[in-house]
Amino acid sequence: MQDMLPPTNGIGIPYRRGYLLYGPPGCGKSSFITALAGELEYSICILNLSERGLTDDRLQHLMSVAPQQSIILLEDIDAAFVKREESSATKVAYEGLNRVTFSGLLNMLDGVVSAEARILFMTTNYLERLDAALIRPGRVDVKEYIGHATDYQLKLMYKRFYPEAATLSNATDFVNEIKKLDRPVSMAEVQGLFMFYKNDPKGIIENADKIGTL
Ligand SMILES: Nc1ncnc2c1ncn2[C@@H]1O[C@H](COP(=O)(O)OP(=O)(O)OP(=O)(O)O)[C@@H](O)[C@H]1O
Ligand SMILES: [Mg+2]
Repeated sequence: MQDMLPPTNGIGIPYRRGYLLYGPPGCGKSSFITALAGELEYSICILNLSERGLTDDRLQHLMSVAPQQSIILLEDIDAAFVKREESSATKVAYEGLNRVTFSGLLNMLDGVVSAEARILFMTTNYLERLDAALIRPGRVDVKEYIGHATDYQLKLMYKRFYPEAATLSNATDFVNEIKKLDRPVSMAEVQGLFMFYKNDPKGIIENADKIGTL
């Protein structure tokens, strides 16, 4: 019995961590997790809870065969238990197929976080849609907002793309042009703009307002 308990730090608190990254699309949630896995030399096991035919039993099984030293990743966790407006055609397809239940998911999470050398990550665009039970401490210990591009990120990106042309004033001009838009931008949008003006450090400043439209 003792062996089945999660390792503790001597005062009865298990070593385990569940992380939730939330925020608008394209701001780096998935990229961060991929980068972290690379840095730690962990593999990533992505679980799609909306997958048809995935049952509670199968979920438990998948967890038991997931490699040690892995990040268990549940993307868009808010979508998994939302009732969709299903057309009659998709309804038929779903009939007779068991799906993962909410309590099945909670049991799975408790199992994952108690396993050694596994880290649990969940991502969502909508924190407020999540059930409190899903993100209570012990299941999700760290919630981190990943937001829109900051001035620092914009500057850094400019310098990365144009190491030669990137004087401080150029990078600052770029940031100022983006700020003139008066709306937050995602790093995915910024990346799109940089790809378009890959070799044109001046053009990107002049055309910063084209962000998101190219
Ligand atoms: N902070 C960042 N720095 C550099 N590039 C970024 C950053 N965030 C996102 N990107 C780029 O934008 C693209 C989309 O990012 P990513 O898939 O990580 O977003 P996400 O937050 O997971 O979005 P979603 O909520 O839609 O899943 C990636 O190709 C990545 O290269
Ligand atoms: Mg993502």
